[in-house]
Amino acid sequence: MVELVKFTVETGVALITVDNPPVNALSAGVPEGIAAAIERAAHDASVSAVVLIGAGRTFVAGADIKQLEEQAHGRGPGAPNIHQLLKSIEDCPKPVVVAIHGTALGGGLELAMAGHYRVASPDAQAGQPEVNLGIIPGAEGTQRLPRLVGVGAAVEMFVSGKSIRAPEAVRLGLFDKIIEGDLKAGAIAFARHVADSGGPHRRTRDRNEKLGSPESNAAILAAGREQARKTRRNMIAPLRVIDAVEAAVTLPFEEGCRREREIVEQCLAGEEARALIHAFFAERAVSKVRGISQETRTHSIRKAGVIGAGTMGGGIAMVLANAGIPVLLKETDRAALDRGMASVRKNYESSVKKGRLTAQEMEERLALIQPQLTYDGFRDADIIIEAVFENMSLKKQVFGEIDRIAKGDCVLATNTSTLDIDEIAGATSRPNMVIGIHFFSPAHVMRLVEVVRGARTDKEVIATAMALTKRLRKLGVLVGNCRGFVGNRMMLPYMREAQCLVEEGATPSQVDQALYDFGMAMGIFAVDDMGGLDLAWRVLQDTKRLTKPGERLYAMGRLGQKTGAGWYRYEDGRTPIRDPEVEALIETTAKQAGIARRSISSEEIIERCLYIMINEGARILDEGFAQRAADIDTIYITGYGFPAYRGGPMWYADTIGLQKIYERILEFQRRHGEYWTAVPLLEQLAHDGQTFAAFDAANEQAVARSRE
Ligand code: 3HC
Ligand code: NAI
Repeated sequence: MVELVKFTVETGVALITVDNPPVNALSAGVPEGIAAAIERAAHDASVSAVVLIGAGRTFVAGADIKQLEEQAHGRGPGAPNIHQLLKSIEDCPKPVVVAIHGTALGGGLELAMAGHYRVASPDAQAGQPEVNLGIIPGAEGTQRLPRLVGVGAAVEMFVSGKSIRAPEAVRLGLFDKIIEGDLKAGAIAFARHVADSGGPHRRTRDRNEKLGSPESNAAILAAGREQARKTRRNMIAPLRVIDAVEAAVTLPFEEGCRREREIVEQCLAGEEARALIHAFFAERAVSKVRGISQETRTHSIRKAGVIGAGTMGGGIAMVLANAGIPVLLKETDRAALDRGMASVRKNYESSVKKGRLTAQEMEERLALIQPQLTYDGFRDADIIIEAVFENMSLKKQVFGEIDRIAKGDCVLATNTSTLDIDEIAGATSRPNMVIGIHFFSPAHVMRLVEVVRGARTDKEVIATAMALTKRLRKLGVLVGNCRGFVGNRMMLPYMREAQCLVEEGATPSQVDQALYDFGMAMGIFAVDDMGGLDLAWRVLQDTKRLTKPGERLYAMGRLGQKTGAGWYRYEDGRTPIRDPEVEALIETTAKQAGIARRSISSEEIIERCLYIMINEGARILDEGFAQRAADIDTIYITGYGFPAYRGGPMWYADTIGLQKIYERILEFQRRHGEYWTAVPLLEQLAHDGQTFAAFDAANEQAVARSRE
């Protein structure tokens, strides 16, 4: 059996090393191993101090989320209880120094706070990200962190879930010292020093000096609750974590811990935790592509070419430069090139203003982007990403050109959002090297990238594109080559259904409000106005799904934000204002179509908008254009503002119950016609009492069996 916790003694200091790759999570066996090592150190007369450290790339990154998942679903014993361990560390008669590198997160930071001292590498980070999993810290973190950093800073860390860096942690009192150079050696020296000093080695739980006054705390807690409601809309855990901090400042330590435990258990029993834990693993599963393994060869990317310096091309060039990859940025005319580079510079300047980048870093990145009007240098590029207008004949022309110029192993990528990758690939002599890399706008901000495999794309090219997205700090999700790929394909029926709802009696703002209250970042009409009604018009028209109001607004030149009016009016260019003219127009088109208008409930809005989207998701899965239902969830959470605390559309469907959704679809079919036809996969799963999650799990098992 592998030894999860190692015990050695170096110059009178006990060194306890947690070695549980990849991130030293507190899985079963780890807390027990640390407890045994602490006990041994306490009784070993040759030991005067203890250093607790992590092996590999990080200190402990928290509880084992797999075990939390089991607990949330009522399976298995759940995460080990580490309260006794924390007490034994804090009560250890010898000073315990925790040495942190990488990320001390969640239970990892809670473990560290039970030590008497914390030292860290300069680039270490610490955080309590539990709210991102729909829970609150459950290993006394809500009681210890305020004692170390003060109530205000603790509330900020708990509610935001964001990590802080080592210098900030020292400033706040969370870390005692930064160790330059070798962390282990520095920590041992520090431990010997504090042991020699004789103490006192204060227990965090006894430190009350930063716990504030009732008056100051009342204001901090109220502001924290306000922040939680605003920044973590509709979520429970960010509010409950403040209840636990309130316990820290009003109750004795032990009672505060009891309160914390009650709240964690309540959170773990709720939908929010199950959905967010699903989202956590779904996001990590996307990198696992069937048929591709660690052994699959990838092309190394040292130099890139981007064609088109418009909205997307400029952003893509920035993303490449941010990762240190030199980019040739090609345009057809000087004015467009200058505009593109000016916009790149402006985006960088805005990051400098916000303190996210230094002026020097900006200049270094700009220097990596070479604007040009020719294909000079493209022969050496390892990847060329095309981002010209969305026009098939233009794309084919461009791919014909690059096919003649690019070296044999150059990956040829298109950023198209709707066009057929195979048709584009057909314009080259090497369709196996062609792939879609669909960035979202703005490319330098949005994490999601759909990697679109064509019928003939080599698996090495897929592996290269997936690895590149990771290197660019993006989240690449592999999808198949169908119209709109996964994300936009599901948007269309959703958008159309919303337009049907307004014809039947709702208003755009009523639909958007219902969607916003459900948790969507924006309502669909506001999204349509932002993307441009011309874009939606073209696609809906092509697929014969255009509605009368959409058609009329387009004909009136109300194209959304860019023309100051679409489904809403805009005075400042971006804040939607309800427009009676649009509502009157909708009433007219409804009347002309003989649609009897009625009052429509929020519940109907949510059911129709989401169930039609879920049905399309099922079709995509059935047709094999997404690998997993969970991939669709990741796409919607990271690219389309779907609330993560609902787990994504397919997970949400599971929580509603596929049988219920199927029955509602049948009902909508009776009322609204064949457009509402349940996809066979959905019908089958509903019939079998199954879920999309079970469908994914069964597929993973089948793939694993086929590998054996
Ligand atoms: N438990 C179980 N598995 C974990 C894990 C955890 N806490 N953290 C990461 N992993 C797994 C991932 O699933 C992934 O597995 P895979 O290779 O099979 O897909 C692998 O470790 C590597 O993870 P990443 O791909 O995310 O690696 P990165 O290097 O990009 O990031 C990280 C490392 C910053 C540590 C990131 O993994 C992370 O944020 N992890 C979660 C941290 C967290 O939320 N901790 C709190 C847990 S809740 C808790 O502690 C409750 C406590 O209060 C009791
Ligand atoms: P854009 O209109 O902003 O930019 C296109 C640029 O390509 C223009 O600057 C144009 O001068 C240039 N161009 C045209 N022909 C060229 C050629 N032969 N060589 C070099 N440059 C040429 O368009 P945008 O929005 O950047 O879109 C580009 C691609 O990205 C399209 O395929 C689009 O569907 C896709 N896309 C767009 C998104 C968006 O939100 N704008 C999101 C995701 C994908």
